[in-house]
Amino acid sequence: MNTQSPPLAVLAELTHRCPLQCPYCSNPLALEGVDDELGTEEWCRVVDETAALGAYQIHFSGGEPTVRKDLPTLVRRAADLGLYTNLITSGILLDELKIATLMEAGLEHVQLSLQDTSAKPADRIAGMQAAHEKKLAVASLIRDAGLSLTINCVFHRQNLERLGAMIDLAVDLGAERLEIAHTQYYGWAIKNRRALLPSRKQIEAANAIVVEAEKRLKGILLIDYVPPDYYARRPKACMGGWGNQFMNVSPSGKVLPCHAAETIPDLHFDNIRERSLVDIWLGSDAFRRFRGTDWMPEPCRSCERREIDWGGCRCQALLLTGNAASTDPICELSPDHDLIRRLVKSEAGETPPPFHYRRMGG
Ligand code: SF4
Ligand code: FES
Repeated sequence: MNTQSPPLAVLAELTHRCPLQCPYCSNPLALEGVDDELGTEEWCRVVDETAALGAYQIHFSGGEPTVRKDLPTLVRRAADLGLYTNLITSGILLDELKIATLMEAGLEHVQLSLQDTSAKPADRIAGMQAAHEKKLAVASLIRDAGLSLTINCVFHRQNLERLGAMIDLAVDLGAERLEIAHTQYYGWAIKNRRALLPSRKQIEAANAIVVEAEKRLKGILLIDYVPPDYYARRPKACMGGWGNQFMNVSPSGKVLPCHAAETIPDLHFDNIRERSLVDIWLGSDAFRRFRGTDWMPEPCRSCERREIDWGGCRCQALLLTGNAASTDPICELSPDHDLIRRLVKSEAGETPPPFHYRRMGG
C-alpha cells in the first residue's frame, strides 16, 4: 500500500513569457517557448488532477501568468473544485477589469513582486522602465478589490540596505504579508551571484531589522523571513523536502519536484501529457529519487535533523559539489562546507559586475 500523503500545493507555471528580466529569476536558463506551452484543456486537466490528488492550493505562476488569456478559466476551474487559488505575478499586465474578472472567477490571493522601494533601482533590477510605478498602482487596485495581498521582494546585495523601507512600503500598500526572499542561487541567479551575494554585515543588519519589525507590526503585517542560505549554519528544508509537499508543472507539462530539478542530469521528468499527476506523484522515478531519508549519505543519515531539513537542497548540492546526493554544503556538518566559506569570502565583497538579465535564448 502506498502511504505517501498528497502534496500541499501544485505550482502551475503557465508560461515562461514575462515582460520583466530579473537577474535572479528562478526559471531555468533554457526557457520554454510559447509553442511548447500546454493548451487550456491540458491546464484544466492539471487543475482537475491537482484537486483529485488532494492538494489544498494551486499557485498560478510563470514567467508572468497573466500573459495567458485563459487564466480566468483556470482560476474558475480551480475555485469550483475547492482549491485555494493564488496568483504569483509581477502585476505589470493587470488592470482594474482584469482583477475584477479574476476575482469573479474565484481568485483568493495575489502575491505581487516588487524589486525595490523606488523607481530607479527597482526598474534597473526588473530590466523594464516604469515597472515600479505600475506595480504600486496595481497593489492599490488589488487591495481596493478586497483581495488578500502578499508583497514578495527578493533581496540581495544591491537592495538589502532598503529592507526597512520595504517593510514600511508593504504596510503602506495594505499588504497582509511580506515575503522577504533572499536570492536562491540557482537558475538565473547563479549567473549573477557575483552581483547579488550580500555581505555578512548586510545580513546581520537585515536580521536585526526583521526581529524589530516583527515585534512592532504584530497583527498588522506578517513577515515571512528565511535567513539566506550562504550565511546559515544548517540548510533549509528545500521545498519542504524533495517530493514531500510540492509539485511544479512547467509550461510544457513537465512535472518537477522543484524549480531547478532539471539541472540534475540523471533524472527523467514525466510529462502531464503522458502520465497523470497522481501517478507521477506516487510513482515517478524523479519524485522518488530523493524522497524520505533512504538516499541520504552520512552525516545526514544519522543526524537528528534528517526529517527536519531533509538534507537541504539537492540542486544546491549538485551545483556546489557536483553530486546531487551529497549533504547540502550549506550545513556546517557537511564535509564540503568550506566551499561556502571560500565562496562568500571571494564573491560577497566585490564591486558588483553588470547584471546578466533573464532573456529568452540566454
Ligand atoms: Fe541537515 Fe544533513 Fe546537516 Fe543534519 S547533517 S543538519 S540532516 S544537512
Ligand atoms: Fe531543487 Fe532545492 S531547488 S531541491
